[in-house]
Amino acid sequence: MSAAATPSRPTLSVIVPTYREAANVPRLFERLAVVLDGLPWEMVVVDDDSSDGTYDVAYSIARRDPRMRCLRRVNRTGLAGAVIEGWLASSADFVAVIDGDLQHDETVLPQMYAALERAAGNLAIGTRIPDPTKPGGLSPARQKLSDLGKWFFSLVSGVEVSDPMSGFFMTRREIVARLAPRLSPDGFKILVDLILSARQTLKAVEIPYVFRPRTAGESKLSPLVGLDFLGLVVHHASGGALPVRFVLFAMIGAVGLIVHLAVLWLLIGGSAPRDFTVSQIGATVAAMASNFVLNNEITYRNRRYRGVSKITGFLIFAGLCGVGAIANVNVANLLYHAHRSWGPGGMGWEIISGMAGAIIGVVWNYAASNTFVWRHRRKN
Ligand code: GDD
Ligand code: MN
Repeated sequence: MSAAATPSRPTLSVIVPTYREAANVPRLFERLAVVLDGLPWEMVVVDDDSSDGTYDVAYSIARRDPRMRCLRRVNRTGLAGAVIEGWLASSADFVAVIDGDLQHDETVLPQMYAALERAAGNLAIGTRIPDPTKPGGLSPARQKLSDLGKWFFSLVSGVEVSDPMSGFFMTRREIVARLAPRLSPDGFKILVDLILSARQTLKAVEIPYVFRPRTAGESKLSPLVGLDFLGLVVHHASGGALPVRFVLFAMIGAVGLIVHLAVLWLLIGGSAPRDFTVSQIGATVAAMASNFVLNNEITYRNRRYRGVSKITGFLIFAGLCGVGAIANVNVANLLYHAHRSWGPGGMGWEIISGMAGAIIGVVWNYAASNTFVWRHRRKN
């Protein structure tokens, strides 16, 4: 134990969100002790009640070394929320976020700290770059997509950042403390949320590093969570009125509409043309399946159904969406006919009635999904 060499007040809190990282937490702690030697630092593990006992591993380190602290959250999940709570548990001058799986290169932390201390900026971001010792890197298509993402992000945020999806960064604690009430705990892209919430008050310094492969445990995120980014952009564009989850849910609903029309077109026009009603039912089931799968993977990833339980989840979802469809049609009809009794019809009013029905439908489906479909806790 080196408590004697550790001043009582840490100036840097390194927040580590964890879910099932028992094997990685002690290794990360040891590595931080090496690279941050000489600095008053602490590591704050924020664990969502992992079934592998990650929190116990962290607590046992904390019992012998005050540089470790752990916050075990129960009945709650979510990467962004864990990070926000870790920040709020800190009283240091600077806070960093690093993944618990050793994929982020902790050796650049001192550079981040130095950049903030000399006020080169108030946000230091670890930017992923291709490994220079390995040829190849990103394929031209991936590079294009990444460039497009960067361009779009700088357009909406007014901040030039080459890796806004990074989960590895450091900033001043007072900044996150001020912005915390505005941040969305349900997302994954906490850096995007922070930059958008800060409304151009952040100046970023980028520190390149090579993203490492995982050696223990498994990844909890899928590339699809990139969509979280769009959800955050719309959330902020609405002045915070639309929750990120609702935006994702509605975007997936729009994809479902496209699936519906495509399947309908295929069934009606296929080599063995089918009856309209049969085709419409087929298209409806396909759209509901697409909505269920995408919401399960993205919107409600933290509480997702796995394996055969997906069937139960889908049946509950489909039943509730049926209720939403009935509400949708009836509200649209009601408005449409109410208007007819007032005067002559017109295409404008039909569209308004149809839209009102669709909005009632999506709001119902969202509320019902939150309350009844994806309400169970994640157990994996
Ligand atoms: N507390 C908590 N709750 N932690 C979580 C949760 C959760 O629901 N889900 C994931 N984590 C933790 C993991 O244990 C890990 O320490 C870290 O968050 C990142 O999760 P991974 O599953 O390893 O994500 P990834 O490697 O696919 O993506 C990461 O790196 C990307 C590139 O920097 C994330 O940090 C992404 O946000 C980032 O874009
Ligand atoms: Mn990872």
